[in-house]
Amino acid sequence: MRKAQPFINGCWINSGRPVVQVRSPYSGEIIGEQLLSTKEDVENALSSAFQAKKEIAGIPVYERANILKKASSLLDSRKETFAKFISEELGKPLKNTLDEVSRSVETLEQSAEEAKRLIGETIPGSASQRGTKALAMTFRVPVGVVAAITPFNAPLNLICHKIGPAFAAGNSVVLKPAPQTPLIAAELLKLLLEAGFPKHGINMVLGGAEVGQQIVQDDRVNVISFTGGVAASRNICDLAGMKKVLLELGGNAATIVHEDADLKRAAALCALTGYSNSGQSCISVQRIYVHETVVEPFTKLFKEKVEQLKVGDPLSPDTDIGCLVDERAAERVMNWIKEAVQSGAELITGGKQQGATVEPTVLLNPPKQSKVVCEEVFGPIVSIIPYCTIEEAIAETNNSSFGLQAGLFTNRMDVIYQAAKELEVGGVVINGTSNFRLDHWPYGGVKNSGIGREGPRYAIQEMTEMKMIVFQDPY
Ligand code: SIN
Repeated sequence: MRKAQPFINGCWINSGRPVVQVRSPYSGEIIGEQLLSTKEDVENALSSAFQAKKEIAGIPVYERANILKKASSLLDSRKETFAKFISEELGKPLKNTLDEVSRSVETLEQSAEEAKRLIGETIPGSASQRGTKALAMTFRVPVGVVAAITPFNAPLNLICHKIGPAFAAGNSVVLKPAPQTPLIAAELLKLLLEAGFPKHGINMVLGGAEVGQQIVQDDRVNVISFTGGVAASRNICDLAGMKKVLLELGGNAATIVHEDADLKRAAALCALTGYSNSGQSCISVQRIYVHETVVEPFTKLFKEKVEQLKVGDPLSPDTDIGCLVDERAAERVMNWIKEAVQSGAELITGGKQQGATVEPTVLLNPPKQSKVVCEEVFGPIVSIIPYCTIEEAIAETNNSSFGLQAGLFTNRMDVIYQAAKELEVGGVVINGTSNFRLDHWPYGGVKNSGIGREGPRYAIQEMTEMKMIVFQDPY
């Protein structure tokens, strides 16, 4: 049985803390346990991280990069084991978790590479009459302590996206992983320490919202990097005071299928990326706006592809759809399907639940106000919504409190240009769906989808300060 323990001031806390069992959401079996952090643990973690700031900032860049590279290659060599661990703990199918581990390997590798690009610039003063002889130089310096608060849906890669850049930039970290997936966080932490991560450079605390609140209120923290829901993010902003807050939040992502689209490709990619991890991704395809002239053939092709998805045991290598994070999430998703159907949506396929598993579900034409359209589903429901003009499809995509990524299938340059310019999102994917992310690209959203960008290069900018040195009269 695996165990997740708080890691504080360079030591694992082995006992004397409340113990909570960790169950597989698919089988209900107990697979491990976690020891919850006390208030004192959180205080000690913050104090340890604060004291370690100087030590971590003082590690030469090449050493930080080597440690991250070593972590990346260790993870690569244990890909299958880590993938199996995530599948057990989260119910995410092996197909998806193998992919997540490969992505985590890259995230750490790219953090190592970006560590070496902490560069600044020189700025001659002579653009001003008052500075004809002056010269300024800028440097990137670590912020100090980064608080990393991570979600359950990609419980390995989204930790790597915070710890990798934070350490690359020379910061110490306090990590609070999602309470649903503490075991994989503990496995990663062990691997990082094995790779040579300085033991005071990372502290891990375990627990729920109260632990997060204690961290975000603390003035020893310089940057809070949070991935999760909007409600929690508002709470963080209320408590954070003057700290910099980076937020990667949710979405109800749209993908537009225009009249000239390659319908087969669009249907196949929408089916693949609308249901992976049972739709529990912030950029999962949730709304497909389809040109009215191709709604019928697209729906037929899409239905066929969705019905080919194999629902079952997340640990079986041919499973496409495992289960949701817990049964409560499945019940919520079912209620949203019911609400949409009762208000006029046509159920094309799916719509059944067993335990924490919900069948991949396709709805046609749900009303604009239904939850499956305007809120974040975070479940295996995709809605097809017809449109007449590209202006209408863009307006409906933008008619959302979110704006993370959007997809567009068309080969018409005028449509691509218009959509790229007018869609209110952090990223537009042409001839692909909203759910396409490479880990070195800038990732983040507008509106309620967040603040700031992830991807090692961009996160490092967020987790460092620019410092200027001025030579007033150097020559
Ligand atoms: C997320 O849910 O924000 C993560 C999506 C991804 O990394 O693919």
